[in-house]
Amino acid sequence: MLKKVGILANGGDVSGFNAVIRAIVKTAENHGIECYGIVDGYNGLLKKNFEILTTAANGEANGILPKGGSIIGSSTNANLFNYKIVNEDGSVQYRDMSDQAIQNIKDFGFDCIFTLGGDGTQKSARDFATKGVNIIGVPKTIDNDVACTEITFGYNTAVSVAMEALDRLHTTGATHHRIMVLEVMGRYAGWIALESAIAGGADIALIPEIPYDIKLVAEKIESRKRIGKNFSVVVVAEGAMPKGGTLTVMNQRDNGNGVDNTKLGGIGQVVAQQLQEMTGLEARNTTLGYMQRGGTPTAFDRVLSTKYGTKAMELALEGKFGVLTIIKNGKLDCISLEDVVGNNKQIGAVSGNTQESNLRKITMDDDLIKTARNIGINLGD
Ligand code: F6P
Repeated sequence: MLKKVGILANGGDVSGFNAVIRAIVKTAENHGIECYGIVDGYNGLLKKNFEILTTAANGEANGILPKGGSIIGSSTNANLFNYKIVNEDGSVQYRDMSDQAIQNIKDFGFDCIFTLGGDGTQKSARDFATKGVNIIGVPKTIDNDVACTEITFGYNTAVSVAMEALDRLHTTGATHHRIMVLEVMGRYAGWIALESAIAGGADIALIPEIPYDIKLVAEKIESRKRIGKNFSVVVVAEGAMPKGGTLTVMNQRDNGNGVDNTKLGGIGQVVAQQLQEMTGLEARNTTLGYMQRGGTPTAFDRVLSTKYGTKAMELALEGKFGVLTIIKNGKLDCISLEDVVGNNKQIGAVSGNTQESNLRKITMDDDLIKTARNIGINLGD
């Protein structure tokens, strides 16, 4: 019998976090189960920072469906298996704090922990499951790159924001006969770039999965000029790179060991500059950034998040732990966290979100690739 469950949101925020939280809480309430928010992701497990969540009139989880962000916070630097500790003298050490976190879970009496997060979060969830914690993951990320599921919550909202940006860039680009470049997020996967390019009618989409040849991109723009279309719209994924080239990196973050500290960014400006020089058209870059993560979720994400949240609670009621809720062939399902982790098996060693981890990227036989090519979107190859 479940009595008390905890919810944590971890990693970069997305629109839909609160919708998942609300769905878990509502389903739990229907079964007389108490829900707690674990504040600031895995950090809250260590600091025993728990707050009661209810959908009562004055409850924390009331009225949160359309709210952006996460009412229980999130963390991008909390790998408890390799936790960064800053000593009083400023020196830094890394320690495995997972046993302390497990003790806190036992002391507080949590029967199950729900982990809302991406690849890194679910890697840690798998590690906790291996150590006996009842854990259920829910796949979050605007990047849509979590293995084993067809879609993550937060992704659709990010694509919608990028699509709206492209619509707006279209009109100003057409007016001034310019090349308008939009750099979008997505880390090492091109989902946001490719789907927003199709939704927003872009002429070119550069994605990490297909290293580009800038000459072919310039040629596409020239061919448009020849038929009287003297402007072009280009979507560039932050992880796109030229053939034989490397990633464009903004800086290295300091989120601790075992997480991806590479902060991508800057490729949009590079591409805009090159295309301006090669085509003689003025080019402008817009970096969309955190607009893709903030604000209210789309209807699609509200429904998806609610489905994921209710499924997660159902699994807990069935006593099915160590799994991730997924969408498979368009339907709700679940899969072992072991499968999500893939070859990245070692406990605590690499938290995830790295180039070595089991990310779901676009494959060349994906319908999106074929669709883009059929309508003449140039993919830089
Ligand atoms: O993984 C989500 C994401 O928004 C990526 O698309 C982006 O590369 C990264 O997080 C940005 O991370 P941060 O919030 O640390 O700047």
